[in-house]
Amino acid sequence: MSDTLSPAEAGKFAAAMASVAEIEDGMTVGLGTGSTAAWMVRALAKRAKDEGMTLTCVPTSERTAGLARALGLTVVGLDDVDRIDVTIDGADEFDGHMRLIKGGGAAHLREKLVAAASDRMIVITDPSKDVETLGAFPLPIEVIPFGWKGTEKRIREVLAASEVDGRETVLRMKDGAPVLTDQGNYVIDAHLKRIADPESLSMALADIPGVVEHGLFIGLCDTVIIGHPDGKHETRMHDQTPAWGDVIMELAALLPTA
Ligand code: A5P
Repeated sequence: MSDTLSPAEAGKFAAAMASVAEIEDGMTVGLGTGSTAAWMVRALAKRAKDEGMTLTCVPTSERTAGLARALGLTVVGLDDVDRIDVTIDGADEFDGHMRLIKGGGAAHLREKLVAAASDRMIVITDPSKDVETLGAFPLPIEVIPFGWKGTEKRIREVLAASEVDGRETVLRMKDGAPVLTDQGNYVIDAHLKRIADPESLSMALADIPGVVEHGLFIGLCDTVIIGHPDGKHETRMHDQTPAWGDVIMELAALLPTA
């Protein structure tokens, strides 16, 4: 199969194949959105069929739901489950701290909700998404259509006060009309080039009235599987080692006070 694919697609395919090995019978699985996640859905459906596995799947978009149903997977909504064992999704960028930019497919709102409800989030990707610093990929920001121009103005004010190298914002369009998300919202792409402090930017954007969700995923992903064009893959796990500063603070809290 991977012989007929471009190098990037072969890498996505290899990552997707490796990720479904993490799934066990009886699990509730979050299904991501995008071309890499689509490979994973196909591989998962095949494995479930071949091995007679019973899985409950929570898709992150209408697109993924349609594909999963067509392949015979059991699809439910997020409110139909108490928790999700593992979500497998793609990403547009990831850094060394497993912080992500997502939303290139305009699905980041549901993707974040599903990831937040999951015990684990595995990101599957080809090597091109691995970055030193987030921001080369435009950051998607989902906004409510009502008053979107005012919301964009407030986003620009936040960007003016943020440590970023670019500040252009563009309403995402397709065929002459604004792209609508599955929730019926617009997407503004922020061309930031370099995001020096993703945590601060994440909080500042989330605080803007009219912003529904942005594509910075922080503290959600614990595993990244990088697929290579030759069919091999590598797995990176989030470093759980606490920072020395945190250890000292915790020890200090145990000391008796005078
Ligand atoms: C969907 O909104 C995105 O978050 C995707 O996960 C991301 O764009 C990755 O897509 P590909 O797997 O198609 O590169």
